[in-house]
Amino acid sequence: MTDLVVRRLLVDMEAPIARHWCAGDAFRSAFFNALSMSFPVGEQFFIDSVRDGFKALSPEQQERFRPDMQGFVGQEATHRRLHALYNGHLEKLGLSNLWEARIRRRMKLVQGEDVRHWLGITAANEHFTAIFADHLLHNADLLGDLDPRLATMWLWHAAEESEHKAVAFDLYKALGGSEEWRLKWMRRTTFFFLSDALRQTISNLRSDGTLWKWSTWKSGASFLFGQRGLLRQTLQPWRAYFRADFHPNQQDSSASVRWLAEHGDQFVPVGG
Ligand SMILES: [Fe+2]
Ligand SMILES: [Fe+2]
Repeated sequence: MTDLVVRRLLVDMEAPIARHWCAGDAFRSAFFNALSMSFPVGEQFFIDSVRDGFKALSPEQQERFRPDMQGFVGQEATHRRLHALYNGHLEKLGLSNLWEARIRRRMKLVQGEDVRHWLGITAANEHFTAIFADHLLHNADLLGDLDPRLATMWLWHAAEESEHKAVAFDLYKALGGSEEWRLKWMRRTTFFFLSDALRQTISNLRSDGTLWKWSTWKSGASFLFGQRGLLRQTLQPWRAYFRADFHPNQQDSSASVRWLAEHGDQFVPVGG
């Protein structure tokens, strides 16, 4: 794997966020805002899983995994920091983060469990993030141009998710994580991720006063199920996870590589 670079993004997160920052679209704004709400606590869980998984490796394995572990932790730590600032603006818009509390409750259920369970959950979530990220990088126009700062932030996050998508998976495998649990955690993650994302999106739309507008759901249907709909286009890569010979690197990362190469003026590498 190539070295994971930690990048400081050159965006101003002090400026407030407009209600419908995403191309003036209520549904897409609510959906992306929902995802953002899950990141600070969710990505901390991923960091803890990878750190603890790393500690459980033999010294020789640790030598091999160290750069990946450090790159992963550095990237996710940067993501959660920026999304916490982002979420602060959402709070001022009157949106309430219900997803975070649900993640915290579930985290308690796996407290003290074997680290391979934590990594199984993290690897499944990372696959989700990676396939959504790749979809976003191929459909960047959906972010609109009302707030180029947020568009950049989402694409940078997407590019790095695609970049580090194999780290948790490789650790899970290196620690002898079973196939049975790998798939079990993916089935559970799929249920929780999709239902939580939908519930939080609905809550955001309700606070927004746009939940019952025809235009909201027309846009939502097209965004999720249309010709280049998120769920329609990620079904195939999602299913790939269930193959016995699956590895995250089998999935194309060229959109991420391209975005990072073309937007070097948007960030400063802070190490790797
Ligand atoms: Fe992230
Ligand atoms: Fe990630």
